[in-house]
Amino acid sequence: MKVTHALHYGNGNTQYLPVSRGRPSARPPLWILILVCLVCVSLIGAYVYPPRRYSACYFFSSRVCSPIMDWLPPIARELTDDEIASQVVIKEILSTPLVQPKNPKIAFMFLTPGSLPFEKLWEVFFLGHEGKFSIYVHASREKPMYVSPLFIGRDIRSAKVVWGKISMVEAEKRLLANALQDPDNQHFVLLSDSCIPLHKFNYVYDYLMGTNISFIDSFWDPGAHGNARYTEHMLPEIEEKDFRKGSQWFSMKRQHALIVMADSLYFTKFKLYCKPGFDGRNCYADEHYMPTLFTKIDPTGIANWSVTCVDWSEGKWHPKSYRAVDVKYELLKNITSIGDNYHITSDEKKVVTLTPCVWNGMRRPCYLFARKFLPEALDSLMQLFSNNTVI
Ligand SMILES: *[C@@H]1O[C@H](CO)[C@@H](O)[C@H](O)[C@H]1NC(C)=O
Ligand SMILES: *[C@@H]1O[C@H](CO)[C@@H](O)[C@H](O)[C@H]1NC(C)=O
Ligand SMILES: *[C@@H]1O[C@H](CO)[C@@H](O)[C@H](O)[C@H]1NC(C)=O
Ligand SMILES: *[C@@H]1O[C@H](CO)[C@@H](O)[C@H](O)[C@H]1NC(C)=O
Repeated sequence: MKVTHALHYGNGNTQYLPVSRGRPSARPPLWILILVCLVCVSLIGAYVYPPRRYSACYFFSSRVCSPIMDWLPPIARELTDDEIASQVVIKEILSTPLVQPKNPKIAFMFLTPGSLPFEKLWEVFFLGHEGKFSIYVHASREKPMYVSPLFIGRDIRSAKVVWGKISMVEAEKRLLANALQDPDNQHFVLLSDSCIPLHKFNYVYDYLMGTNISFIDSFWDPGAHGNARYTEHMLPEIEEKDFRKGSQWFSMKRQHALIVMADSLYFTKFKLYCKPGFDGRNCYADEHYMPTLFTKIDPTGIANWSVTCVDWSEGKWHPKSYRAVDVKYELLKNITSIGDNYHITSDEKKVVTLTPCVWNGMRRPCYLFARKFLPEALDSLMQLFSNNTVI
């Protein structure tokens, strides 16, 4: 396989081949010469133009291989059957204009272990806007007890979710599948039990409906919490240069939600090879699958930041969580006025990239939602919302 492959790329190198000017008397049969030539062309071809970076190193010792291979420009790789199939489906979904429904809605999808501590706040947020939203709840541990009629009957069939494992992504896919059943749903927002809205409903609705991009967090992180989680088992479809990281809390347009439904190629790679403890590393599929998928298939169709704010600035294993005493008008004002998103790499350089939040050519506030708020913050938040301090 690899030999024929290499032959295909090796065509330009025939000048290095031994030309057949052997002794005319003891000339070996022509077919042997041709065979020897073919083998030579293949080997030279495989060496100079590897079909992909690592496979050529099976032929040669890595000591010879790596320094030379590093100098070479990458070459186009032949797509696998699964990739060709996946590309036609994805291209078709992206290029087919969607039928605009008369009443476009936003699907709010809650991924929670049980009851929603901020149900009352969300009720205030939703009330009066019936017909412009739909709610879906995936409760993975226990059946939530609701007080608001808006939430009653909105649970979808759910399954156990283990933090950092593929079951997290499977739950996200389950929410998307349920929400896609309603053709009016045009935008799909993933929220956790600790998420709160930062604005009133109309602001959020206009913001999301006014754009045709998805807010999927994605960045290149060469460090310990980024590319160190990558494994070559993901080759050939996912190369290390394609591997991205980002927070799981997405907000995506319908076409992108359909692509998540259609994708089994990339999903399977993450299911098999991106998990805690695999191949001596801890990979968390929910932080890498969607950023990698969308950066690969539609990089300009995503914003590269999430509209859900979370504060990692304390540099701890978990993000900052907000208690009742933290909730003040000033805090909401601070978060809602943020106009740049930033990413920090986890390598020694700790490179910070600050990117202005821009879509349709205009600068915007980055965030519509925030986490993580502790349940005790509910009353203060309710006050802020009822005081009309939130716009
Ligand atoms: C998204 O909207 C912008 C501005 O309205 C437009 O220029 C762009 O072509 C649209 N992109 C897609 C993929 O529809
Ligand atoms: C997101 O990042 C990719 C590169 O990873 C880039 O091609 C794309 O333009 C970015 N999207 C926006 C909206 O800037
Ligand atoms: C809001 O931001 C200002 C300036 O960054 C900071 O000094 C202040 O402590 C922040 N307030 C809250 C409540 O986070
Ligand atoms: C909301 O308004 C009430 C009554 O005017 C006031 O007592 C309270 O301090 C306000 N709360 C906030 C968080 O501004």
